[in-house]
Amino acid sequence: MEKEIFTFEKIEYLYKNVSLEELSKESNFITEKIFSNKIWIRAIIEFSNYCENNCLYCGIRASNKKIKRYSLDDELILKTAKQAIDYGVKTIVLQSGESSFYSSATRICRLVEKIKKLDSEVAVTLSCGYFTKKELIDIRNSGADRYLLRFETADEDLYSFLKNGEPLSKRIEMLHNLRDIGFEVGSGFMVGLPNETDEVAVKNLLLCKELNLDMVGIGPFIPHPDTPLAEAKLAPFEKTLRAVAILRIMLPYSNIPATTAMGTVDPFGREKALQAGANVLMPIITPTEVRKYYLLYPNKICIYENGFECFKCLENRVKKIGKTLKFERGDSLNKKCNLQLQKV
Ligand code: 5AD
Repeated sequence: MEKEIFTFEKIEYLYKNVSLEELSKESNFITEKIFSNKIWIRAIIEFSNYCENNCLYCGIRASNKKIKRYSLDDELILKTAKQAIDYGVKTIVLQSGESSFYSSATRICRLVEKIKKLDSEVAVTLSCGYFTKKELIDIRNSGADRYLLRFETADEDLYSFLKNGEPLSKRIEMLHNLRDIGFEVGSGFMVGLPNETDEVAVKNLLLCKELNLDMVGIGPFIPHPDTPLAEAKLAPFEKTLRAVAILRIMLPYSNIPATTAMGTVDPFGREKALQAGANVLMPIITPTEVRKYYLLYPNKICIYENGFECFKCLENRVKKIGKTLKFERGDSLNKKCNLQLQKV
């Protein structure tokens, strides 16, 4: 079969000129062919909101002194992970801010090893920011399977502006390191950042393809009142849905979550994303006492729910659109396909 080439012009045409309805028809056809009506779930534990970075968009940036900082102790993290595993969850995601103390490579390795001891079949995904290649090798050796690190925007200037001078190449290098070390690699971007042009939106999509991502997490940028971008505007949600649909067309086998940020800007945002090409949901299982402190953006949904209430809610929501939640590991079919290609 001839490999489809996605040029800038082609993606620009899809993004600017083809209706969401048309795009979704194509993306849904692909999603159903590959994933049938299954929605894979991953349970997220937001174990610490300490962060040493000062990203202009993010509510847990170091300079935000208005939030209470927390780091769950290992015991509580393990207890929460065990509850999820007993419930049938096969992927645990550990997410945190970037902190050389609360989210050090040593601590992460220890946590991964302990989760794997609870059940060696459970996949562990990390989303804890930047690490050196050496640290990532240690983390992989501790048993971690997958890593999420969004590139946030494919525009170098916008990226450096948002991250106080850091070059985009540093993130991209880490994504390549993750791939070399054998992780399933996840990345993605925010939709509607200030100064984002259609050209940047297209570059975002093309970068996901170029990186051949196993997982692509995207979501609308939501201005946080306690950040320098408080006065920025929220982009129309349709832009996010268009991006989801095009990503599915470009990366048929990748895992694409319907994210919490999508459910925050639109009460049916996640359902809409699942009907535009997404195939994954990531319910939050962070202990309820601290959920309200992990606010990267305002008005986040699910922060007052307890334990596994989110699973019940999602089960119903998914049923209403004719899909089924699946408690499977849901390893990347994209990675599997690439490994098979390499063997030939
Ligand atoms: N609005 C939407 N998403 C945000 N993130 C951080 N801050 C915001 C915001 N204000 C996203 C970033 C980050 C992920 C964990 O959350 O893309 O990588």
